[in-house]
Amino acid sequence: MSALTDPAQLADAVRATLVGVIDPEIRRPITDLGMVRSVEVTPGGAVDGGPLVTVGLDLTTQGCPLKDTLTKDITAAARTVEGVTDVRVAMGVMSPEQRTELRTMLRGGSPEPVIPFSLPTSLTKVYAIASGKGGVGKSSVTANLACAMAADGLRVGIVDADIYGFSIPRMLGVTRPPTKVDDMLLPPIAYDVKVVSIGMFVPAGQPVVWRGPMLHRALQQFLADVFWGDLDVLLLDLPPGTGDIAISVAQLLPSSELLVVTTPQVAAAEVAERAGSVALQTRQHVVGVLENMSWLVQPDGSRLELFGSGGGAVVAENLSRAMGAPVPLLGQVPLDMALREAGDEGMPIVLADPDSPSAVVLRSVARTLAARSRGLAGRSLGLSPVAH
Ligand SMILES: Nc1ncnc2c1ncn2[C@@H]1O[C@H](COP(=O)(O)OP(=O)(O)O)[C@@H](O)[C@H]1O
Ligand SMILES: [Mg+2]
Repeated sequence: MSALTDPAQLADAVRATLVGVIDPEIRRPITDLGMVRSVEVTPGGAVDGGPLVTVGLDLTTQGCPLKDTLTKDITAAARTVEGVTDVRVAMGVMSPEQRTELRTMLRGGSPEPVIPFSLPTSLTKVYAIASGKGGVGKSSVTANLACAMAADGLRVGIVDADIYGFSIPRMLGVTRPPTKVDDMLLPPIAYDVKVVSIGMFVPAGQPVVWRGPMLHRALQQFLADVFWGDLDVLLLDLPPGTGDIAISVAQLLPSSELLVVTTPQVAAAEVAERAGSVALQTRQHVVGVLENMSWLVQPDGSRLELFGSGGGAVVAENLSRAMGAPVPLLGQVPLDMALREAGDEGMPIVLADPDSPSAVVLRSVARTLAARSRGLAGRSLGLSPVAH
């Protein structure tokens, strides 16, 4: 095929290639998002005497952090058209009307924020990761499950709802806050996982002193104002215990299911069981128990059960009895220094060392959870205690 010489045809050809340029935050083609304002061709305008292509691009916000990525991708796409060498991107910003239109489109036609996961049509599996107490590895589990699922090709989001002990951003190496498009938030993405955390909204080093209603509102915002796109799985890292957030999650996301994390220790198991029992009141389903810090493999290959043994199995058994439905022990994750280091460094162990024993267990649990059918769609929102 010889190079196109007619400027209009050339512009059309360039426009067609831009369908392949994906907005890095919204993850849809920039052409679908109304971002491409114009494509102009100036014959002979390029340094080499060829045509100069100028793509007018309207960003969602002036401070869009991903300008460089967009420029690079647009340039590369346009250059696939024969004869095009010189590409310029003229950045502008969407008008308020354009942004309203974009928000409405992203909300699936609704001008008002809605929680997409609470709609009966939602296909997203929602797992809330709960524990009795802090420090048992709830956040590590959340981050690893999310990354393992994303690595398997699933579309995954995390809400770090642990208001007082948020740690997900660090574990995933996320440093930038969501991009604001008026009242819509585009979450940062790490390892293909969309992440929002309460930690992104509080100034560094300041304590969070929020009461129930404020927590509820914050969670509602996370869920409704954030543009999640179509997710296969949403994970929520809950604060430890049986507090307000757990109840809010059940109210806002009636189809969410609980995953209970515990250590093998009897005392930890007892409080973990209590956290799981919240599900009785909120009529949530408990998808299973994950025991963490189960043992330490000694240099001679033997297992040192540092925190005792049996906690996970006991919690699973007791919750099964309480729920009147099987609550399986999904796995036992050994103590692993590399797991801690990976978390501290911002790359979860399932990615940093996928074949390590702890990562193997976490990946297998991720597959189990991902493979389940979305159990409780359409289940009634019931917060009154169930008679037993
Ligand atoms: N299996 C494990 N082996 C070694 N360290 C772990 C393991 N699980 C968690 N940790 C470490 O223990 C600490 C607490 O874990 P974290 O996930 O923050 O717990 P939680 O969210 O329940 O408070 C972190 O420093 C984490 O890296
Ligand atoms: Mg935590």
